[in-house]
Amino acid sequence: MLSLLAAVAGLALPQLALGGEYSSASSYKVQTPPLTTDWTYNVGTDPWTEYPRPQLVRDRWQSLNGIWSYKNASASDLHRVPSGDLGQAIMIPSCIESALSGVMTPLDEQGNGNVKYSWFTTTFDVPSDWKEDDVVINFGAADWEATVFVNGKEAGFHRGGWTRFSIDITKHLKKHGQNELAVFVYDPTDSDEIVISVGKQTLRPDHIFYTPCSGIWGSVFIEPVPKAHIAQLDVSGDMHGKLTIKAHSSNGKSAPVHVHVYDPSNNIVASGSGTSDEDFVVRVGNPDLWSPEHPHLYDIKVKFGDDEVKSYTGFRTIEKGEVEGVVRPLLNGEFYLAFGPLDQGYWPDGLLTPPNREAMVYDLQVLKELGFNMVRKHIKVEPDLFYRACDEMGLLVMQDMPSMRPNINKIPSESEQEEFTRQLVKLVETHKSFPSIYTWVIYNEGWGQRPNAPESKLVPIVRELDPTRLINAVTGWHDSGYGDYHDNHHYSMPQCGTPFYSIPSSPYDPKRIGFQGEFGGVSTNTSMEHIWNVPKSFANINMTYEIDETIEVWNERAHEILDALRDQIQRYSCSGGVYTQTTDVEGEMNGLITYDRRLKRYDPAQWQRDIQALYDAAASRGGARIGSSRSPITAAKQWVSSLWYINTHVLRGLGF
Ligand SMILES: *[C@@H]1O[C@H](CO)[C@@H](O)[C@H](O)[C@H]1NC(C)=O
Ligand SMILES: *[C@@H]1O[C@H](CO)[C@@H](O)[C@H](O)[C@H]1NC(C)=O
Ligand SMILES: *[C@@H]1O[C@H](CO)[C@@H](O)[C@H](O)[C@H]1NC(C)=O
Repeated sequence: MLSLLAAVAGLALPQLALGGEYSSASSYKVQTPPLTTDWTYNVGTDPWTEYPRPQLVRDRWQSLNGIWSYKNASASDLHRVPSGDLGQAIMIPSCIESALSGVMTPLDEQGNGNVKYSWFTTTFDVPSDWKEDDVVINFGAADWEATVFVNGKEAGFHRGGWTRFSIDITKHLKKHGQNELAVFVYDPTDSDEIVISVGKQTLRPDHIFYTPCSGIWGSVFIEPVPKAHIAQLDVSGDMHGKLTIKAHSSNGKSAPVHVHVYDPSNNIVASGSGTSDEDFVVRVGNPDLWSPEHPHLYDIKVKFGDDEVKSYTGFRTIEKGEVEGVVRPLLNGEFYLAFGPLDQGYWPDGLLTPPNREAMVYDLQVLKELGFNMVRKHIKVEPDLFYRACDEMGLLVMQDMPSMRPNINKIPSESEQEEFTRQLVKLVETHKSFPSIYTWVIYNEGWGQRPNAPESKLVPIVRELDPTRLINAVTGWHDSGYGDYHDNHHYSMPQCGTPFYSIPSSPYDPKRIGFQGEFGGVSTNTSMEHIWNVPKSFANINMTYEIDETIEVWNERAHEILDALRDQIQRYSCSGGVYTQTTDVEGEMNGLITYDRRLKRYDPAQWQRDIQALYDAAASRGGARIGSSRSPITAAKQWVSSLWYINTHVLRGLGF
C-alpha cells in the first residue's frame, strides 16, 4: 500500500549534486573500516536521498547531503570562519570517525580518539523558484555543539548530539549565485571534564563502550517556507479516533490551522480546524487501530496560512491498567506483552549513521521475521526515518534517553544535570508524534544518575510533555519507586515480576509494571571475517559472563533463557522483556546477527516458537492474542466485515 506520504516523498525534487565545486570533492574515498557491511561500498557519494522528516513534509526541498570539505580545528578557530575548500573531503551525513565519512580520524597510540573541534564547509544554490520564500536549513543531528555560518555570518547555534534542529537562514542568503555554508562542531566526549549525554560513545572503546562519533551525522537539507510557517507539528491519535494536533507557528502569532485526515485508500475521513500553538481535536469515526500486528497509518494534511505540510499518525492508546489483578501495560485497552531486543543501532562503517535506509531497515526485518513486536532503542536516537519504518512495519519502540557518561568518580554537576534535562525535553518534543514509541526511558543502570533520585523530578516533566505514553524512570539498578515500571536487569536469566531478585535490583513492586529491561546476552565467538578487527576490542570478547562454544549451543542457551521468561510470564507478574541484543557491536559478540550483518546466529524456527510462547503465556493471563494466534477482536472485525461483504456483494449479486 503506497501511502500519500510515500507518494509525496517520492515525487519530491530530484537532488542536485552539491559541493562538487571543491577540488577535495573529487578526492572523497570511503576508508577501510575494521569491518565492512554489504552496504559499505554501495553508498556512493549521494547518501540518504529519502525525505528526511516524515512527520513534517513539504513538497519543495533540497538535500545538502553529499561530499563536503573538512578540517580539524581548535577552540579559537570559531572566530576565524573559513571559506572554500578545507582540503579534505567528507561525506555528510557521517561522523568523522567513520569509514563512510572518508576521513576516519585515526586513534592515537593508546587507541584513543582525539578530535574535539572540526570545521565543515559546502556550497549551495537556492533554486530560482524559491526567491519569494524564506529558507530554513535543517540538520538531522550534529554531535555535540554546532555553530552554523552562512556566507561568513553566524546563523545559529545548537547544543545536543541527538536531536534535529532548524535555522532560518533567509537574511544571510545571497539573492544570486552560490552560498557558502560553514559549520563549526565541538564534541567534548570524554574531554574537558564535561559530563554530557554520550550514550555508548567513548574515546577509549572497550567491552560495552564503542567508538565515538563526532560531527554532522544526520541528514542536512534546505527548504523554502512562507514567513509564517509551521515550525513543529505535534500529532497524537488514540483508540477512540481522537486526533490531537498542535501546529507550532514560526512567529508565535496565533492563526487558523486546517486539517484533513486520509485513510490508507486516500479518502478524507475527517477534517477540522483550530488555532496554531494550541491543542485542538479532530475526530475520526471507527478508525483502524495501530498495533504491531496491524500498523495502520493515516496521512494528515495541515494548512496554516500559506504553509501546507503533510504528516501522519496511528490511532492507538497506551496506558497502565490492572488485568486479572496485575498492573499491566495496555495497548488499545488490552494487556499487550512487548518483547524486543536491546538495539544499539551502531554500524561498523557508519557508526551512529546507518550506511543507508536499506541497511537500517534490514535489522528491523530480522526482528519482525523472528516475531519480536518491540525494539528497545538503547541510549541512542535514530534518524526520523527509523521511527517511520517502525510505524510502518509494526514495531513498538521503547526509547531511551542517551545516558551521560557512567563515571562514578565524576557525577554530573547541577548545570550538567540541567543540560541533561533540557536534552531529555528535546528528545520527547521531537519524537512524541511517532505512534510506534510507547515508552520513554530516563536512566539506564544508574549511568549518570545523580544520587537522591533525580528521576523524581524528571518523571513529572516527561509526563507533562507527553501524557500519552508510559515512563520507565530507571531501567536496571537504582530504583526509588518512580515511573510506571519496575524494571530489572539480570544476566543471563531473567527475574521479571518474580518473588525472587538479586542485588542491585529491588523486590518486584506490584504497583508498577514488572519488566525485564535486559537479560540474555550470551555470546559466541565467530571467525575473524565477522569481527571488528581492533585487537583491543576482540581481546575483550570474553569479558561477557558467558561464551558458548558453538552457534548450536548458543541457540540452545537462548531457548533456556527465553523459556525462563515464559515461565515468569505464566506464573508471576512479568509484562515484557528486552533480550540483549540485535547485533554484535565492536567487542560484544552476543548478537542475533554479527556486527557486519552477514551471519545470522539464530535458528529462526526455534526463536519464532520461543517468542510466540511468550505471547501465548501472556494471553493465558488475560493478555492480547499476539502473533500467529489471531486476536478475538480482529477475528470479530473480520467476521463483521465479511457479513458486510455478503450483504453488499452476494445479496446484490443474487438480485436483492
Ligand atoms: C586536531 O587538532 C588538535 C589541536 O590542534 C590536535 O591536538 C589533534 O592531534 C588533531 N587531531 C588530528 C586527528 O589531527
Ligand atoms: C575469538 O575468535 C577470534 C578469531 O577466530 C580469535 O582471534 C580470538 O582469540 C577469539 N577470542 C576468544 C576470547 O576466544
Ligand atoms: C580473555 O582471553 C584472553 C586471551 O584471548 C586472556 O588473555 C584473558 O585472560 C581472558 N580473560 C578472561 C577474563 O578470561
